[in-house]
Amino acid sequence: MGFCSGDVVKLSWVVLVILVGCVREMEGWGYKISWEDVELDEYDYEMVRRRVGERDVREGDFVALERESGRNRFIVVDGNGRGDSATVQGAVDMIPDYNSRRVKIYVLPGIYREKVIIPASKPYISLIGNQNAANQTVITWGDKASDIAKDGTVLGTYRSASVTVLSDYFCAAGITFQNSVNAAVGSTGMQAVALRIAGDKAVFYGVRIVGTQDTLLDDTGSHYFYQSYIEGTVDFIFGRARSLYKDCIVHSATKTYGAIAAHHRDSPYDDTGFSFINCTINGSGKVLLGRAWGNYSRIIYSYCNIDDIISPPGWSDWGYPSRDKTAVFGEYECKGKGADRKYRVPWSKSLSYYEAKPFLDLGFISAEKWLGL
Ligand SMILES: *[C@@H]1O[C@H](CO)[C@@H](O)[C@H](O)[C@H]1NC(C)=O
Ligand SMILES: *[C@@H]1O[C@H](CO)[C@@H](O)[C@H](O)[C@H]1NC(C)=O
Ligand SMILES: *[C@@H]1O[C@H](CO)[C@@H](O)[C@H](O)[C@H]1NC(C)=O
Ligand SMILES: *[C@@H]1O[C@H](CO)[C@@H](O)[C@H](O)[C@H]1NC(C)=O
Repeated sequence: MGFCSGDVVKLSWVVLVILVGCVREMEGWGYKISWEDVELDEYDYEMVRRRVGERDVREGDFVALERESGRNRFIVVDGNGRGDSATVQGAVDMIPDYNSRRVKIYVLPGIYREKVIIPASKPYISLIGNQNAANQTVITWGDKASDIAKDGTVLGTYRSASVTVLSDYFCAAGITFQNSVNAAVGSTGMQAVALRIAGDKAVFYGVRIVGTQDTLLDDTGSHYFYQSYIEGTVDFIFGRARSLYKDCIVHSATKTYGAIAAHHRDSPYDDTGFSFINCTINGSGKVLLGRAWGNYSRIIYSYCNIDDIISPPGWSDWGYPSRDKTAVFGEYECKGKGADRKYRVPWSKSLSYYEAKPFLDLGFISAEKWLGL
């Protein structure tokens, strides 16, 4: 009846195998987002061809896919009904709660008029459209802050979003997020969010985020926006997140005045902020680079090409002079007529290399911990 060392060795192996299995299933443990999560490979395209070709593969197909080990799960959305779902929300609904593996939702070209919500219980979702033409796959809705919700309450800015992402490890590529409300600058209740990202650790690659006032609610978490296009008029990138915008086009659509970024930060110890690197800032109007929403708002532009669309003072303290001492607004090595700092508010800063350094690469969003691009 002795429990000899051989048994201990065997038992250790069993425990080890179970542990490794669990770790592989639980991607959150040491898991990093890679290009594989953001793009479609040949296998994925083959899956699309099969799925769209065979009309009777629908329900149950997703379950069959779950059994396929070692591959990403895959759902096809086609507005013409040849996919697994005709709507994006339908695809999200097919994913089980507490999902622990990457699921790619491939959205075929088309205009999807729907409001999409990805709940916090569904992490590891990739929403992928056409990687070479993001404008061919469009998710659009038209709620605004002053609208009345079904429960009779005023919707408010946060709930106006066409697409809301509350889960972690979200990725999107080659897709357009739009809010179709056309808010006149200066009007009230017209805030209309196209995309709200409130999950932690998200990547947006080659996406278009289009609206007018409050287009992109970069709400909470660490996010990477790469080679993407963001269009709006007033505070069109706003929120409390810690985000890096690299090689993006930031497009002002106002005919009069407006503002690009409004970052909210309440304490000098928060690691949040918006850092724009090597972005093109163009479009129309005269806009501010940023507004201090919260005492310690932090917004930095580095190596950006800025067209002649910037209101010369450049930055606003939101009418709170005390924020002149606490907001962190900086510019480093930007080019173009809009980068002229001659008439900037004196409390904004032309950064030295050492001051700019923490904002100049992926280290700003601690990418080494979660991003393997
Ligand atoms: C989509 O983008 C392409 C390339 O940027 C452009 O040529 C085309 O006109 C756009 N189409 C629409 C519908 O906006
Ligand atoms: C800056 O952005 C442009 C346009 O997206 C890109 O071609 C270039 O490689 C970028 N430069 C650096 C240093 O990342
Ligand atoms: C903004 O910059 C992008 C990238 O350089 C360019 O394709 C686009 O035409 C520009 N738009 C305007 C209005 O200058
Ligand atoms: C912001 O600063 C003002 C002036 O110092 C202070 O009265 C206010 O409480 C601060 N707000 C927050 C949220 O800390």
